[in-house]
Amino acid sequence: MIQIKSDEEINQMRKSCHLAAEVLIMIEPHIKPGVTTQALNDICHEYILSHNAIPAPLNYKGFPRSICTSVNDEICHGIPSERKLRNGDMVNLDITTIVDGWHGDTNKTFFVGSPRKQAQKLRDATHTSLQMAIDVVRPGAHLGDIGATIQSYIEPLGYSVVREFCGHGIGRNFHEEPQVLHFGKYGKGPLLQKGMTFTIEPMINQGAPHLKVLEDNWTAVTLDGSLSAQFEHTLCITKDGCEVLTRLEGRTDF
Ligand code: MF3
Ligand code: CO
Ligand code: CO
Repeated sequence: MIQIKSDEEINQMRKSCHLAAEVLIMIEPHIKPGVTTQALNDICHEYILSHNAIPAPLNYKGFPRSICTSVNDEICHGIPSERKLRNGDMVNLDITTIVDGWHGDTNKTFFVGSPRKQAQKLRDATHTSLQMAIDVVRPGAHLGDIGATIQSYIEPLGYSVVREFCGHGIGRNFHEEPQVLHFGKYGKGPLLQKGMTFTIEPMINQGAPHLKVLEDNWTAVTLDGSLSAQFEHTLCITKDGCEVLTRLEGRTDF
C-alpha cells in the first residue's frame, strides 16, 4: 500500500527534507583533498544533532555511521572511514535526517579539488537524469514513467543504470512502499496521486551495471571498477506536479 500524506504531514516532512538539504550545503566547503570521510561524517553528525534531529543511517539495519560516503567506483552505502580524499576523487554524500519522526533523504555527488573530464560528464548526466524524472512526476503519471525516463536518457550515452537499488517511499519510515526503479517502461506501474512521497535516486555507472558488495556487507562497488555517480531527492506529489522537498529555494546545483 502506498501511503497518502496529508498537507499537515507534508509540512512536517518538509522540515526534515530542508534540514537534509542544508547539511549538503553546509558540508561542501569541507570536501577538500586530505579530508577523511570520517571527518565529513562527524561534522554532519554534529550539525544534525545540533538541529534537534537524528541521522537516520546510524544503526539502521546495523549501519555503523551517520551518513554514507561513496567514493569513485563505490555506488552507494560507503562507510565513512579514515580514507583520505584526493584531488580528482568523486564522492557522494547521502544524508537522511529524522525530525519529529519524519524522514528527509537526499544525496549529491561532489568533486574533490579539480574534476576529471570523464567524471564530470558522468556526474552531469546523472544529475540531468534525475531532473528529467522529476519533471514527469504528477498525478496521473505512472510510476514506471520515472525509470523509463532515466533509462532512455542514460543508456544512449553509453552509461548504465544500477538495478539492485532503487528509490523508495518515505515518511515516518526510512523506506516504505513503493519501490521506485530507475529503469522500466512508460505507462507501467501504479498511477501517481497527490500526497505520495518518495525518493528518486539514480545510480549511474560509467561502465557495466553490475556490482558487488564488499566484505563490510554495505559498500556496493562497480564490478568492472568504473566510476559511479548518484543524486537523490525526496519529493511529494502536488495537485498538478510535484514539490522537491529536499531542494531549497534558489538552489539549482542539486
Ligand atoms: N540513504 C540511503 C537511501 O537513499 C539508504 C542508506 S541505508 C544505510 O535510501 F543504512 F546505509 F544508511
Ligand atoms: Co533514499
Ligand atoms: Co539516501
